[in-house]
Order: sequence, then structure tokens, then C-alpha cells
Amino acid sequence: MKLAVWAMTVTTVALVAGSASAQIIPGDPGSYPSVGIQNSPHNLNNYPGVSIEGNQICLPCHTPHNALLEGEENVLWNHAETGESFVMYSSTADQPEGPSKMCLGCHDGVTAVDNYGGSGGTGIVITGSAAIGSNLSNDHPIGIAYPTDRPAEYNDKATFSPGINSGPGVQLVTLSGLDRVECTSCHEPHNNGLGEFLRAPIQESYLCLQCHIK
Ligand code: HEC
Ligand code: HEC
Ligand code: HEC
Ligand code: HEC
Repeated sequence: MKLAVWAMTVTTVALVAGSASAQIIPGDPGSYPSVGIQNSPHNLNNYPGVSIEGNQICLPCHTPHNALLEGEENVLWNHAETGESFVMYSSTADQPEGPSKMCLGCHDGVTAVDNYGGSGGTGIVITGSAAIGSNLSNDHPIGIAYPTDRPAEYNDKATFSPGINSGPGVQLVTLSGLDRVECTSCHEPHNNGLGEFLRAPIQESYLCLQCHIK
């Protein structure tokens, strides 16, 4: 009995020590934590003043029926679109499309976070550094085609490493027939295991080096 208790204590200590020293090792997806929406800032119930009917965490972004967006952007999108006009990184770039436009439906800092299903929402908007705003000229470029003709500067997308749960890591988004860099190239809005909803660790700039050869 005493021995059993001792053994249990040793195991517990080892487990605690194991989790305390748990460390994200870039390139080893087995070391990437997984944190679902429920316990992340994308559970809108966690946002001060906001409460989602029936605690349905998907609802601010998706609906099973009568989605607000169709076609290319068809992920049964339920959130109001941004009405902002954006200043892009490059003056020749088009206004945000696809998943990037979806993100900016909340991160423009103007559209209410709980304006979904055509409800109009309460007027509560994102403030502070998570409000990317409408000036994207000081943010990493989005809406740009990924260069395939500069193999000395940009990795082939076939070399991108797996992400959380060995799912897709950094990815390109195909829009209008082109492989592009969009918000969801670096971010996975459904999992916050690596922090900042990133698809690859920022440690050692691993995320950046997936694409850039530097
Ligand atoms: C804060 C917004 C947000 C919330 C909350 C959210 N999603 Fe999404 N979801 C997105 C965005 C943006 C896309 C499109 C970009 C992409 O594919 O990641 C998407 C795409 C998807 C897709 C299609 C692409 C894929 O990743 O398989 C599925 C399926 C999905 N979501 C399921 C869910 C479910 C189920 C929930 C609730 C448990 C949920 N989402 C909650 C933003 C959200
Ligand atoms: C329905 C509204 C909504 C949509 C759509 C949405 N977000 Fe968010 N997001 C939020 C809120 C609210 C927060 C918390 C902001 C805060 O804490 O100030 C947040 C936080 C974040 C954070 C910071 C996470 C952290 O760990 O602090 C990132 C990164 C992020 N979102 C990226 C995205 C990306 C990329 C998309 C599109 C794929 C997206 N979001 C779509 C509402 C949204
Ligand atoms: C090239 C990769 C990349 C792209 C593309 C990208 N992000 Fe990020 N984003 C990051 C990294 C890395 C961080 C964490 C470091 C930081 O806070 O600057 C971050 C942080 C954030 C945060 C949290 C900022 C804070 O201080 O709370 C939000 C919100 C966010 N991104 C939204 C977006 C949205 C919306 C888009 C598309 C318009 C986008 N990101 C495109 C890499 C990217
Ligand atoms: C998904 C691939 C991808 C990821 C991940 C990525 N980038 Fe980029 N980055 C690009 C592309 C593509 C361009 C634009 C290239 C062009 O059009 O010349 C770019 C442009 C840039 C530029 C501007 C270069 C210029 O000439 O204006 C900088 C600086 C930069 N990235 C830094 C970073 C950093 C830092 C990170 C990590 C936080 C990062 N990138 C992650 C693909 C990526």
C-alpha cells in the first residue's frame, strides 16, 4: 500500500514536471498543444458584454442554413461582412476577399463582433491591438499570389510542415485560380494551441521560414 502511494506520487510528480517542461519544438507537431475554440478568444462568450444564444460557439461565424455568403466563400458564413474600404500593403492590390474578408468582419474594429445571422448585434467591437483596422499597409501583405518563379527566395508549398494534430500547417489559399497568401495562411481560427491562432510556431521564426528562404 505504502509502495503504491509512493509510486503514485512519483508518477504524479513526473507528470507535472513533464507538463511544466512541455515545450513547443518547431518542426515537431507532436509538441504542439491543441486548444479548441471553446477555450479561446474565438468563443465569443469570452468577450466582455457578449453572450451567444444557447452557448453555440460556432454560430457567430457559421450557420447550417441560410448562410449570408455563398460561392467561393461558401463555408456557411453567418457573420456580417465588413463595410470598410481597406488600404492595402501594395497600392495595386485588390480589396480583401475570401477568408481574409471574413476575419476583417470582426477585426476591422468597426463591425460588431455579435452581428451575425442578420441580427445587427449589440455594437460591441474589438478594440486594442486585435483591431487590425482598415489600414493594412503596415501588416504582412495578403491577397497576393505566392511567387513560384523565385525558388531562391520562396519555398515550394510542397515543403510546408504539418501543424497542430499533424493537420495542415502554413497553407496557401486558392482564390480566382491563384495560390495566395491570406490571413488563413498563417492563422487557423479554430485552434489556439500555438497562441495567436497560428498554424506554425513563431518560435525561431519557424512560421516565417516556411515560406521565406532567409
Ligand atoms: C471566429 C470565427 C469562427 C468560429 C467561431 C468558427 N469558425 Fe469555422 N471557419 C471560420 C473561417 C474564417 C473559415 C474559413 C477559412 C478556413 O477555412 O479556415 C472557417 C471554416 C470552417 C470549415 C471549413 C474549412 C475547414 O477548416 O474544415 C469548417 C468545417 C468549420 N469552419 C467548422 C466550424 C465549427 C464546427 C465551428 C464551431 C465548433 C467553427 N467552425 C467555429 C471561422 C470560424
Ligand atoms: C466573429 C468575430 C470574429 C471573427 C470572424 C474572427 N475573429 Fe479573431 N478574434 C475575435 C475576438 C472577439 C477576439 C478577442 C480580441 C481581444 O481579446 O481583444 C479575437 C482574437 C483573435 C486573435 C488573437 C488571439 C490571442 O491569442 O490573443 C487572432 C490572432 C485572431 N483573432 C485572428 C483571426 C483570424 C485570422 C480570423 C479569420 C480567419 C478571425 N480572427 C476571425 C473575433 C473574431
Ligand atoms: C504572414 C503571416 C500572417 C498573416 C498573413 C496574417 N497574420 Fe495575423 N499574426 C501573425 C503573427 C506571427 C502574429 C503574432 C505576432 C504579433 O502579435 O504580431 C499575428 C497576430 C495577429 C493578431 C493578434 C494581434 C494582437 O496584438 O492582439 C490578429 C488579430 C491577427 N494577427 C489577425 C490577422 C488578420 C485579420 C489577418 C489578415 C488580414 C492576418 N492576421 C494575417 C501572422 C500573420
Ligand atoms: C504563407 C507564406 C508566407 C509566410 C508564412 C510569411 N510570408 Fe512574408 N511574404 C510572403 C509573400 C508571398 C510576400 C510578398 C512577396 C512579393 O510579392 O514580393 C511576403 C512579403 C513579406 C515582406 C515584405 C517584402 C517586401 O518586399 O515588401 C516581409 C518583410 C515579410 N514577408 C516578412 C515575413 C515575416 C517576418 C513572416 C513571419 C512572421 C512572414 N513574412 C511569413 C509569404 C509569406
